[in-house]
Amino acid sequence: FEETAYLIIHGKLPNDAELAAFKEKLVTYRELPRTIRTIGSLPLEQYSPMAALSIGIDTMRTILTGGTSPKRPRTPVDTDADTVAEIGANGEELEYKAKGNTEDNLEIAYRLVAGLGTITAAIARIRQGRLPIEPDPELGFAANFLYMTTGQRPSKTAERLMDISLILHMDHGMNASTFAAMLVASTQSDLFHCVGAGIGALSGPLHGGANEAVVHMLEEIGGPENVEDWFRKARAEKRKIMGFGHRVYKTYDPRARVLKPLAELVTKDNPEITRLYETALKLEEVVIKELGQEKKIFPNVDYYSGLIYKGLGFEPCMFTPIFAVSRVVGWVARCLEYLENNRIFRPRAVYSGPVGNEYIPLEERE
Ligand code: SDX
Repeated sequence: FEETAYLIIHGKLPNDAELAAFKEKLVTYRELPRTIRTIGSLPLEQYSPMAALSIGIDTMRTILTGGTSPKRPRTPVDTDADTVAEIGANGEELEYKAKGNTEDNLEIAYRLVAGLGTITAAIARIRQGRLPIEPDPELGFAANFLYMTTGQRPSKTAERLMDISLILHMDHGMNASTFAAMLVASTQSDLFHCVGAGIGALSGPLHGGANEAVVHMLEEIGGPENVEDWFRKARAEKRKIMGFGHRVYKTYDPRARVLKPLAELVTKDNPEITRLYETALKLEEVVIKELGQEKKIFPNVDYYSGLIYKGLGFEPCMFTPIFAVSRVVGWVARCLEYLENNRIFRPRAVYSGPVGNEYIPLEERE
């Protein structure tokens, strides 16, 4: 995750020193105790996790830019950890002036890359009725994200599954959520708002929300033996089959090719996921047979990712936030890139409504 994030933000793979410095920044920036305490005071189990994520980002901005914070030596977490300020890269207290950080956009981009994992894990914990867990500075990004969510340090396999999934979802050209983030960047709003716009766009079931919709669809089908009938009914109702199709890929999404065998891996000793996986295999076969050649509709990145996240212990409504934990890298990277030569997005629309209408006084209207 760390190497790929660095590559996407900086356009080159990091050398030893650059990677170590980047990792240290992410380890520091993933500590957001005041942000987590603030959102933890909300009944987050009543919020859609993507809405909670947006609130987390706005809270993070307020705390980082909204004023000064009490002095505190950088010691191990002590009893009044809640009064901890967010700390800078060198452990100094961050004094922020409202309306404008003392940090440049790249530092804020790093903070957002580090912070989304922390906020998402806290949302997952609170939804389970548990307290958020502080990050473990000894763990890499993927392992720490799983640790903050489950409370267990993950196995090497689980860590690698998470790491690969995060890498695959990091950036993908001019997809809807990246475009949304860049549009907000072009107005010179701040990167927090850009990420908030990306979160909003990604939450739609036609985009990032598909990974959650796929698992609900597979559960609705109930087993491989029901696929044919279910598919025929779905086609008759002109339903979109979640996890299939793509505006750009008119072939099997290369990311799905990587995720499919990983989904099979998590079926081991997990009969519920095995059943979902077998249903998915059968549905893939039926959809490709009927829609593959004619309409170029094949599995996309969202088709198998949910089964992996389910196997790693996440509930389905957390799947899209996990997509955001990864795609935030693409969002901030594209925003930083665009801002180097910024011009506000202002598309033209062709008016196609009636012309020449006369004003009709209210009393004369039907
Ligand atoms: C992501 O842009 C990106 O790169 C996105 C993404 C990324 O990394 O950022 O790759 C991540 O969002 C993947 C897509 C996840 N969404 C889904 O799985 C939802 C289901 N997919 C569809 O809604 C659809 O395929 C889209 C939204 C992904 C693409 O839509 P398009 O390109 O606008 O295609 P369309 O809706 O114009 O469909 C073209 C034809 C239509 O048939 P006709 O009306 O011409 O007869 O193909 C049909 C559609 O009905 N079709 C499908 C279908 N997808 C397209 N029919 C059934 N099931 C589907 N999934």
